[in-house]
Amino acid sequence: MNRGAWVFVVSLLGLTGSWCGLVWYPQVQLGQQKETTTVPDKQLYPVARPGLAAQGREVYRSEGCYTCHSQQVRQKAVSVGLAVTEAGTNLTELVEAILTVAPQWSRVRVAEAVTRLPFQVLEGVEVAEADRARRQIEVTGAKAVVTVRPVGPDLERGWGRRRSVAADFLWDDPVMPGMLRVGPDLANVGARVPDPRWLLTHLWDPQIQSPGSMMPPYRYLFEVRPAGERPSADALVLPAGHGPGPGWEVIPRPEAWALVAYLQSLNASPALFEAPVQLPTARRAGTETNTAVSAQP
Ligand code: HEC
Repeated sequence: MNRGAWVFVVSLLGLTGSWCGLVWYPQVQLGQQKETTTVPDKQLYPVARPGLAAQGREVYRSEGCYTCHSQQVRQKAVSVGLAVTEAGTNLTELVEAILTVAPQWSRVRVAEAVTRLPFQVLEGVEVAEADRARRQIEVTGAKAVVTVRPVGPDLERGWGRRRSVAADFLWDDPVMPGMLRVGPDLANVGARVPDPRWLLTHLWDPQIQSPGSMMPPYRYLFEVRPAGERPSADALVLPAGHGPGPGWEVIPRPEAWALVAYLQSLNASPALFEAPVQLPTARRAGTETNTAVSAQP
């Protein structure tokens, strides 16, 4: 019996199905990505990396840094809560209002907390409950915000403020989200390690800042040359035993500067509509507030 036609039809369906799942549907989902704006300050996001950082991305790629470092922060959930940010003038009433919406706190703790704002009153509640509590607190003249805190192991490690989303990679081609995490995630390393000197020294010899590090040194990104009469301002300041010795200086090559500019440009932390973050910002306590709060338990 000739089943050629069946084999053909079934293979065609199989191939079409996989093509739709792997090419067409992702394209429909993500292909129309555009620049967006941050929430709530409406800044354009993401902006293209500056020229030097774009060159550095090629160094990152050619050195294969992505084999040990991911650039994708994962998130399990968001935790909604309420934080009091400004005390207003009537502290006694504020303390009462807080104790009504959050009876789990002791009076002493609340009386102390309202003098050192922001104070996270509720955490892990429903949005409606947080909003109701906010209104109850604001009738006392205080200010409170409903907080939205992304949570998950990556965020607890301090690798970012929120999960990574496709928009973070909009201007990167190719994207290098990475698959292995021999080293820490670098999606926000620019915010975490803003000091270019730290990054350069770490590239010269990771053992200096992280004794026992598995990261290889990238010495060929630096030029070792005899220190002249006047040492260069760019020369790395290295602890004894980690440099080439007296009479020599270590100067970052252009590739090292570019790579560091790229690392500094990695900062996927602005809050977006699809990945919200809303945390209280510390404000200076008003001087006119009534601090004579009774602090009995
Ligand atoms: C063999 C795996 C490996 C490779 C390849 C590698 N790293 Fe690392 N990296 C690590 C490990 C492990 C750490 C954590 C210990 C440390 O700080 O050295 C680390 C730490 C870092 C840190 C500090 C991050 C922080 O939050 O403290 C930066 C920045 C960094 N690496 C950049 C790079 C760059 C850029 C490259 C490519 C030129 C690279 N790494 C290649 C393993 C690697």
